[in-house]
Amino acid sequence: MRGKLITLEGIDGSGKSTVVKRLQENPEIQALDPVFTREPTRGTLTGTAVEQAILSETDQLAELFLFTADHAEHLAKLVKPALGSGKTVISDRYSDSRYAYQGMTLKNRIKEPMKWVRGLHRGWTVVPDLTFLFDIEPDTAVERCGKRGEQTKFEKIEFLRGVQENFFRLAAEEPERFLVIDANRPQEAVEKEVVEKILGFLGNEQK
Ligand code: TYD
Repeated sequence: MRGKLITLEGIDGSGKSTVVKRLQENPEIQALDPVFTREPTRGTLTGTAVEQAILSETDQLAELFLFTADHAEHLAKLVKPALGSGKTVISDRYSDSRYAYQGMTLKNRIKEPMKWVRGLHRGWTVVPDLTFLFDIEPDTAVERCGKRGEQTKFEKIEFLRGVQENFFRLAAEEPERFLVIDANRPQEAVEKEVVEKILGFLGNEQK
């Protein structure tokens, strides 16, 4: 049987990556023997290209294609083989990050950018079975994280507000796939809820 694909999404500073680290150390999650992964990927040609592109203020359309190339590589080398062998895959960011972030960076260049970026993935991506959306106040998120490029704090908050809105639009379109997590709470509470929901989801799927 094909394994399940679980993704975690949210704006920068939502605390998502910290929760992923804690999931990796959680005995109940470890018992499931999942494959932990992330986008952008690390230590790959495409992931390195993305990393350099972000640092060097690359053209935003070029950036989209680099992120998307990285997704193709991620799917081919890790996600599809793991799911094919029945493994649970847990990814820190995945396609929805592209829809939400590039839906924002391309908004002055492309008509209906989020729809357009989604269209670019159609036919070859693997849609997650469950997606956690970390919901956090953009002001709090910006306090928690470093800056992206040369943006001022205000620009950053405005940018993340737009990204967050896009994430919520995606969640509204597919309410059965998305689970919104209140990430304004202490880390332990967030972790506990995510663990419970993962165990519940996988338990129900096996019935
Ligand atoms: P990430 O490596 O998750 O951030 P961090 O360095 O905090 O771990 O992602 C790097 C940035 O790239 C982050 O601002 C989100 C953004 N991003 C996109 O714009 N599009 C994408 O498709 C992905 C996967 C990430």
